[in-house]
Amino acid sequence: MSRSTRALINTQALSDNLETIRGLTGDARIMAVIKANGYGHGIVQVARALRAADAYGVARVDEARALRQAGIEKPVVMLEGFQDAEELKSVGELSLDAVLHHGKQLALLEDHEGKPLRCWLKLDSGMHRLGFPLAQTQGVLGRLEQLDSVAKPLILMTHLACADDRHNPMTKHQIHDFAQAVDGLDLERCVVNSAGLLAFPDACLDWVRPGIMLYGISPFPDDTGLDHGLKPVMTLESTLIAINQLRKDEPVGYGATWRAPEDMLVGVAAIGYGDGYPRHARSGTPVLVNTQRCSIVGRVSMDMVSLDLRNAVDANVGDRVVLWGEGLPIEEIARHADMIPYELVCGVTPRVEFVYP
Ligand SMILES: Cc1ncc(COP(=O)(O)O)c(C=O)c1O
Repeated sequence: MSRSTRALINTQALSDNLETIRGLTGDARIMAVIKANGYGHGIVQVARALRAADAYGVARVDEARALRQAGIEKPVVMLEGFQDAEELKSVGELSLDAVLHHGKQLALLEDHEGKPLRCWLKLDSGMHRLGFPLAQTQGVLGRLEQLDSVAKPLILMTHLACADDRHNPMTKHQIHDFAQAVDGLDLERCVVNSAGLLAFPDACLDWVRPGIMLYGISPFPDDTGLDHGLKPVMTLESTLIAINQLRKDEPVGYGATWRAPEDMLVGVAAIGYGDGYPRHARSGTPVLVNTQRCSIVGRVSMDMVSLDLRNAVDANVGDRVVLWGEGLPIEEIARHADMIPYELVCGVTPRVEFVYP
């Protein structure tokens, strides 16, 4: 029997979103960022739906291995590179691209044998997370030039810290400082994530690295993917398992934190934080019951959440409840839970059935 709590994954929307990105970025090549299990959507299914991408970006060897085992031969970029000799060996065996961001990796490459690896040199233009300082660009390139284990030419990259905040001056500084540091080098460049791609189109250059947009979600805190012509990919749904008639002032759920403002129907949907629905979603967070917009009331529990059914008085036990996705932007849910949509999609737990067309 199929489980009632399901994540429906619209793979057509994934490829449509990729097309939309192509339309925005012209000739730039696209590294589709599909780390963290394809942002929680299922890495292999996502990669297949995004077969028109030019490369995939992942964070862990296991993610890359899953792609290779599924027969995917396209370039797969390890966004954090390799951490030790064993990982470097796997990078070689799986024919992965490595991001180089740290001196220790160069030392490991000196001892590496086998086919030269395609490498991306990551420069730190101000985020101070991963990357060589911009001032070291020439020196590191000189060292890499000597290494037979590194395929030439390399690709240069950097990462933006604040691109989702359109008015933050830091992004312009990062773009400018990176451009200066690599000026005159005849190498391809890659700077932008989703927010950078949308807010700073001049920085799209040779490669772009969108992640969240592919899943139909806006990288900005104040709009939705629909505002950028994107289609939601994940729809999280469950069913109503009870409907109760409450009298005015009767409480609902753990802690009795919410009380009925009038005599009313309260429903119970079979989804909770055990499925990845956020426990901190506030009363008033929207849901769809059938197609009616309703809202949650009281605390979210592990397996259930209660719903104000005043907008869906004809609802029946067994009816469909949509928690986010088609018809209900996930960005709205994230705002009600003081989260970002990235956390919501990555947090759906394995007990939820994932359904692909
Ligand atoms: C290095 C790098 N590039 C690109 C991305 C994609 O970012 P976004 O999902 O915001 O488009 C990420 C995601 O965190 C990243 O770490």
